[in-house]
Amino acid sequence: MPRLTFIASQGTSRTVDARIGDSAMQTALAHGIDGITAECGGAMACATCHVHVADKWADRVGPAEDTEADMLEFAASTVTPTSRLSCQITVTEELDGLVLHLPDTQI
Ligand code: FES
Repeated sequence: MPRLTFIASQGTSRTVDARIGDSAMQTALAHGIDGITAECGGAMACATCHVHVADKWADRVGPAEDTEADMLEFAASTVTPTSRLSCQITVTEELDGLVLHLPDTQI
């Protein structure tokens, strides 16, 4: 089972089990990770699931596609080249060990 690590803006981290096929956002909500609000439930309509993919994982996760990038413009915190909407990151075996940094705010 893949494991994902979420690192809060203050530096605290949690590593949790993730189900293949779930999104990183669903994984965060299932484990009560603070910092992922996900107001739209994964419909790519809120940008409150914004995360920064750790640099060493950026190539494997890939960049946001155009529609996702458009929605990221509504993110409450700074968007960087490794910004993604976590509802658009699908957990796979290849993402075992993925590290995602949470922004300081989602609202
Ligand atoms: S949960 Fe709303 S855009 Fe990801």
